[in-house]
Amino acid sequence: MTLSIQPIDPVSRPSFAAEVSGIDITRPLTADQVAAIERGMDQFAVLVFHDQRFDDDSQIAFSRNFGELEVASGDINWGKDRRIASPHVNDISNLTNDNEVMARDDRKRLFGLGNRLWHSDSSFKAVPAKYSLLSARVIPGAGGNTEFADMRAAYDALDADTKAEVEDLVCEHSQIYSRGILGFDDFTPEDLERFKPVQQRLVRRHPVTGRKSLFLASHAGAILGWPVPEARAFLRDLNEHATQRQFVYSHAWRQWDLVIWDNRTTMHRARPFDAKQVRDMHRTTVACERSTMAEAA
Ligand code: OGA
Ligand code: MN
Repeated sequence: MTLSIQPIDPVSRPSFAAEVSGIDITRPLTADQVAAIERGMDQFAVLVFHDQRFDDDSQIAFSRNFGELEVASGDINWGKDRRIASPHVNDISNLTNDNEVMARDDRKRLFGLGNRLWHSDSSFKAVPAKYSLLSARVIPGAGGNTEFADMRAAYDALDADTKAEVEDLVCEHSQIYSRGILGFDDFTPEDLERFKPVQQRLVRRHPVTGRKSLFLASHAGAILGWPVPEARAFLRDLNEHATQRQFVYSHAWRQWDLVIWDNRTTMHRARPFDAKQVRDMHRTTVACERSTMAEAA
């Protein structure tokens, strides 16, 4: 098997979203293979692998090649009984702890609907996510795509005045903001403490390629020094700009796909599907090394 990384749409998105073939990533990798995947991530920001039959242990082992893993403390039921044993696996499913499809008004489901808003994983944590790795264990018959937006291309396409305006801005991110957009406010006092806003730079520079990107997410609800309504109107415009179709790859899942994305340079969102069908995805998450506030400008 020879490892090959090919852009999914070489004509309209030659440097965003590629398919990787010729490798079984459920088994231990060589340093060269890990380096090749990292180079692919630096270039394409989203990599798709087909037919990778992970369980949680093998997914965790593969993910650790790329850095320290996060714990799933952004989940609404963190600290309570969970369906998935490992604290390093985010439960991105519509299943209860008894593996039944959740009721329409299930609190965990309603909280999880926040994934339908464009976001970057864990931007609400002081040290946000580097890579997310999402494994499709069970998929619905139709719908349920995940869309990815290229925030490097979105930054490049800003006009010079806007680039100058965003350069040094700092946003506050919290899941309280993103869930508030959908009208979800069913937080316990402990949730409110855990989800206190954190600061993130709005413009980031990739440590390897040097490319700049917009660090946006539905979690961003304020800009330091700005009146809130003006900040939200401005962020709304930026999000609208950044998620124009030419910047977006829509992934139609096959069972056993593993998709890795770079949260530093992309946003993503889930698309709807028939809520009576099972969709069971398991996510591992590699943390950044430091907060964006400590990153070089
Ligand atoms: C995630 C996420 C989108 C989806 O796993 O972080 O946002 O389509 N998933 O499930
Ligand atoms: Mn996500």
